[in-house]
Amino acid sequence: MGWWGILNSVQDTPPGKAVRESISEYSELTLPNDSNSLGSLFGGKLMQYVDLAGSLAAARHARTAVVTVSVDSMTFLRPVAIGQLVILRSSVNRVFRTSMEVGVKVLVEDLRTGQQDHVSSAYLTFVALDQERRKIVLPPVIPETQEEIRRYGEAGDRRAYRLRQKEREKG
Ligand SMILES: CC(C)(COP(=O)(O)OP(=O)(O)OC[C@H]1O[C@@H](n2cnc3c(N)ncnc32)[C@H](O)[C@@H]1OP(=O)(O)O)[C@@H](O)C(=O)NCCC(=O)NCCS
Repeated sequence: MGWWGILNSVQDTPPGKAVRESISEYSELTLPNDSNSLGSLFGGKLMQYVDLAGSLAAARHARTAVVTVSVDSMTFLRPVAIGQLVILRSSVNRVFRTSMEVGVKVLVEDLRTGQQDHVSSAYLTFVALDQERRKIVLPPVIPETQEEIRRYGEAGDRRAYRLRQKEREKG
């Protein structure tokens, strides 16, 4: 590649953004309408909150439309009582090219005591699209803290696993 090609490829890559620019928090007070037959929060409702919280961090990084392409397996560690506050913290762990992994941590707060407990964690992959639903190359994400660097590294392993799974599903 000549100088002109190098210059063009540098210009095509959007500048990087720090992880902290995508950090998001989303909270929901659980209501009776969202309960399962035992009177605690319906799991599908929590999954909806996770998708929403993840999309906030993804959109803050991409500053364009984002769609969920995959959600890794989720475990619910404890029931969430109706009337408790669900707090979801999300940030972009790693950008690949047109896709990015977002991590979401779910906590539940008892509003009477202030005690917060970890309920679940999830990894979602979002793809950035333009108005014509064409994929867009994302700005790289820059991990700064030790925690962010660890998540960045681990996201690479998770992506390899996901893409292997996708190939298997294709048959
Ligand atoms: C997301 C979508 C645009 C991807 O289109 P596609 O032509 O299949 O795109 P590709 O195969 O080139 O994949 C695009 C990116 O997603 C990644 N990707 C695709 N499938 C993936 C999976 N199962 N897990 C993780 N990443 C995945 C690819 O690796 C690629 O990433 P990269 O550019 O960072 O390397 C398309 O599948 C779609 O529109 N899906 C529906 C999305 C949606 O509506 N979500 C809401 C659910 S109702």
